[in-house]
Amino acid sequence: MKKIGLFYATKTEKTSWVAEKIEKEFGKDKIDVVPIEQAWQNDFSAYDRFIVGASTWYDGELPTYWDELIPELRTMDLKGKKVAIFGLGDQVRYPENFADGIGLLAEVFEGDGAILVGCTSPEGYTFERSRALRDSKWCGLVIDLDNQSEQAEKRIKEWCVQIKEEFK
Ligand SMILES: Cc1cc2nc3c(=O)[nH]c(=O)nc-3n(C[C@H](O)[C@H](O)[C@H](O)COP(=O)(O)O)c2cc1C
Repeated sequence: MKKIGLFYATKTEKTSWVAEKIEKEFGKDKIDVVPIEQAWQNDFSAYDRFIVGASTWYDGELPTYWDELIPELRTMDLKGKKVAIFGLGDQVRYPENFADGIGLLAEVFEGDGAILVGCTSPEGYTFERSRALRDSKWCGLVIDLDNQSEQAEKRIKEWCVQIKEEFK
């Protein structure tokens, strides 16, 4: 299998913590981890399989650098490529915009023709609304380090097993 590209943005390093765990699950030789502030549109074309990650900020927005790159990313042709999305949020403080960033990224990458993999169950989370929810499933992996940090490693591990299969 060709290398996977993992692109992420973080503000307080929580998303980078998750990115490191995912890198460990795949093995450093199988994955390139790229902070989004160092990425350009061309960097995406080098991969057939992507993992992308973002926390949610300011009541449902993507964090800095993702939002700046989005107009460029919307013009990519990713037909036939697969993307798995993870995102961080806080379900207690932001129950109406919980992990919205995942839904925003899904819309962009699917708009480019990519196939979304790595959907998970919302069971075990308490919230009111989220753009990450689709057909009663998360369209990615949701991690809440503010309230459910003890569940994070297990959720990450299980998701990596799932997407390894779905990336085949
Ligand atoms: C000012 C502020 C706004 C936030 N807005 C949201 C939000 O709208 N939805 C959500 O799920 N989480 C929200 N969060 C929680 C962050 O997404 C969460 O703490 C995340 O783990 C931060 O990850 P990062 O440090 O990698 O950026 C917010 C946090 C802060 C401090």
